[in-house]
Order: sequence, then C-alpha cells, then structure tokens
Amino acid sequence: MAKMVINPNRKLSRINRQIYGHFSEHLGRCIYEGIYVGENSPIKNVNGMRTDVVEALKAIKIPVLRWPGGCFADEYHWKDGIGPKEGRKKIVNTHWGGVVEDNSFGTHEFFELCRQLGCETYINGNLGSGTVQEMSEWVEYMTFEGVSPMAEQREKNGHKDPWKVDFFGVGNENWGCGGNMNPDFYANEYRRYQTYVRDYKADHHIQKICCGANVDDYEWTEGVLKTCFSHSLPFQHGFMDGLSLHYYVHPEGWETKGSATDFDKKVWYKTLNKALFMDELIRRHGAIMDQYDPEKKIGMIVDEWGTWFTCEPGTNPGFLYQQNTIRDALVAGITLNIFNKHSDRVKMANLAQIVNVLQAVILTEGDKMIKTPTYHVFDMYKYHQDAELVDSSIETETIGDEDEWKMPNLTESVSVDGDGALHITLTNLSADESYDIDAHIVDRKVSEIRGEIVSDEMHAMNTFEDPDHVRVKKFDGARITENGVSLTIPACSVLHLELR
Ligand code: AHR
Repeated sequence: MAKMVINPNRKLSRINRQIYGHFSEHLGRCIYEGIYVGENSPIKNVNGMRTDVVEALKAIKIPVLRWPGGCFADEYHWKDGIGPKEGRKKIVNTHWGGVVEDNSFGTHEFFELCRQLGCETYINGNLGSGTVQEMSEWVEYMTFEGVSPMAEQREKNGHKDPWKVDFFGVGNENWGCGGNMNPDFYANEYRRYQTYVRDYKADHHIQKICCGANVDDYEWTEGVLKTCFSHSLPFQHGFMDGLSLHYYVHPEGWETKGSATDFDKKVWYKTLNKALFMDELIRRHGAIMDQYDPEKKIGMIVDEWGTWFTCEPGTNPGFLYQQNTIRDALVAGITLNIFNKHSDRVKMANLAQIVNVLQAVILTEGDKMIKTPTYHVFDMYKYHQDAELVDSSIETETIGDEDEWKMPNLTESVSVDGDGALHITLTNLSADESYDIDAHIVDRKVSEIRGEIVSDEMHAMNTFEDPDHVRVKKFDGARITENGVSLTIPACSVLHLELR
C-alpha cells in the first residue's frame, strides 16, 4: 500500500494556467490543414479556422498559444503575411520540408484564431535573421493605438483596433536554428532587441521572453543571465519576464528517435525515464536563475516540450507527423505533474505542437479529426489551471526494465481550486502492475469523490477508424476512508480525482 499525504493547509504556489499552453508553428500540417483551411474550404470553418479543432481546444480550456515558431520564427518576416492574400509573398519553408509557404495565415489570422479560442497570445519574434526595426514595427503594428505608420497600415488591412500581445519571445533557439549564437552574443542582442518591444498601452505590459537553454546546457543559462544582468542594466521590471527551456523526449536518442507506436517494454521505461528528467532540468536551471533572480520574478517558460519520435512511415520527414499512444499520455501526465510541483518557477509551458506535429493533442485527415490520448490528459488536468498547488507526497517503489532505466512507479500533484475542491492527478508508470494507494488528507473530511481515468495497454491509440478507443472514462475505484481516500490505480494510467 502506497501512503500518500496531502496537506491542503499548506498552499505552495499558484499553478499558472499558462502551464497548460500550446505551440503552433508553420510546420507540416499544423497551421495549414490542421487549423487553417481557408474561408472557401468545404470543411466547416469560421473565417478559415476549422470549427472542429477550435471547439476541441476550447473544451480543454487552451490558455495561451505560441506562434509562428519554432525555427520558423527566426526566418519569418511578418510583413509577408499581411494585406490582401493574393498579394502575399510565396516563400520556401526551408526548415520544414522545403514546401511553399503562401503566407495566407499571418498576423491577422493568428489573432482571429486566438479570438475564437478565447486564449492569450504568445508571439515569437525574429532575432536570428530579422532587424531590430522589423521587430519593433511588428509590435507597433499589433499594439499601437493612435496615429502611427504601422497602426495606419493595420487599419488599412481591416483591423482598426490594436490587439493584445500577452507574451513576446525575443528569438527562438538562438543557440541553434536561430542564429548559432554563443550565450554572450545572444544576451547582448537580447538586451538591444527587447528595448524596442515597447508597451504602447500604459496598463498592459507585454511579457518578454529571453531565449533559454536546450536541455541541460547550463552554460547557456549561466552565460545569458550573466551578460543580461551585467553593466548598467540593473534588474528592471519588464526587462525580462521569462527565460525559456526546450526539452524533447527521444527514446532512442536524437539521431534514431524511435517509433511512436512500435516499442517494447524496455523502450516504454526508457521513454518515461526520460520524461522524468524534466524535474532535474527545472531544478538545475532554476538554481542558476535563483542566483540572479532570488525572488523568482522571472518565469521559467518551457515553451517546447513533448515526445519526438520517428515520423509516421510514408509521411514527409520534414512534417514531423507522429501517432500518439498511452505512452504519450503518460509522458504528458508525468510532465504536467512536474510543472505543477515547480509552479513557483515554471510560469508557462507549451506542448509541441498543437495539431498534426510531434506530440499533438489533435490529428486531422481531410475533414476528419481525432483527439489523441495526450488531449485527454489535458482535459483531465484542466482543473489545475490557476488553482493553488498544495503540499503532497507519495511513497514510491522503484520499477523499470534495466539498471539504467530505474524510476519511481508513481507521480502525483495536488491543487485546490477557487471553489475549495481538491484535485489529485496521479500517474502509474508501470507497464503491468497496479498499486493500492491510501491518501491521508490533513484536516479535511471527504464527502464526495469524482474520478476519471485514461488507461489502456501501452500501445493503445486513437485512429481515424477508431477515434474514441482511448478516452477519459469514469473511475469508480476510489473509496472514502476515515482520513481521506483509498484506491487502486491500474497499470499504464493517468488519473484525476476531484474531492469535496
Ligand atoms: O518543434 C519543432 C522544432 O523543434 C522547433 O521549430 C524548434 O524550435 C525545435 O528545435
């Protein structure tokens, strides 16, 4: 019996809803086909945005969307994507498949999408191949209200009122596809570019995100922060609101990656073990951030995370299209529990990517759409959005296939929402063992339990022929006890309990 202790009296930090954010790039069939089909498409749409996809994303309360990349961002010239569509430049998407990008989805379309979704906006600017002037004019175009050349152009293009930019990324992966810079060079560029990401509205601050590290490149984090906070630039509110981190799970390493659907038990454990590494990454990058920002004013922004497998056979390798199984559901459940536990530092995270790319929550084929197992985890975890993380712990056993891939059998996180309900999310990483859990809740009598679960054998997935094979099911296996609740969590599962 695994003992779990929950102390709702000890509120630790607010779980920003933006931790449940998403990422959309001009990559493969993410934007085109996946989200945007154009006004004249036979697929049901509103102003070109697929209605089925928009509705599905609203149902998981998508809080924020990042766009237009990714690597694409540092080659994106925003002026190509405004004005009458027939006049928009056709360019080659050099990063992703060498296909023609007709720029029919640009700034106006992105804000229309976010309007329909009811979510916040995260724009990623081009520092790698763009100029300071270009970045500064984009911000003016999007947000300036009054008389200015960019505001005038926006009005001419059909949008008189400015939009609200909530987050702005000053470059992406500038250690790699965003310009192959070293930390010192990038940090100096960051200092310069961010100066011109202006707040045109006195009552709205655009949160600026500095490009952080790839995986465990602690030297980058240290180097960037050192230069950013040196010489006559004292800590000022709004100079840097976030520092990003990118981490993908490749079970067989970056070169080989591994199949999304064809894997054995050893690879199952390897994958989940790699997902757990997120915890160490947050701790170690966080410890460096603490030296410069002990009050934790700067958020860690994990704006790319998820599984990255070998793309589906027969698809364009530059499109990064992969299937999604119960293993992905576990990666999502584990990672989101880790983010919740670190919500004092992690302020936003964006799963890569929203539709048809990498660990997508949605896959489409023509007019058909399916929700992946990962989607259903986001659905169950949505109750944590803006709730208070509370103190909790669980006894674990060590499981795994080989010495190298040993790990705890269970992970958890617990929050209290605005109505006082307690939300417990648990993952069982074992491929074949179920576990009994006895949860003791300090100073609280439980009168009502609602349980839901995503669970199946490890390869289970949804297909266009069998779209609801994996879905959220009712979980009746929890019982009220003297001190809390007890339950048995099946193998390969992600579970949510709501207690009142
Ligand atoms: O998400 C796919 C790519 O992964 C992004 O474009 C890039 O930022 C990262 O390397």
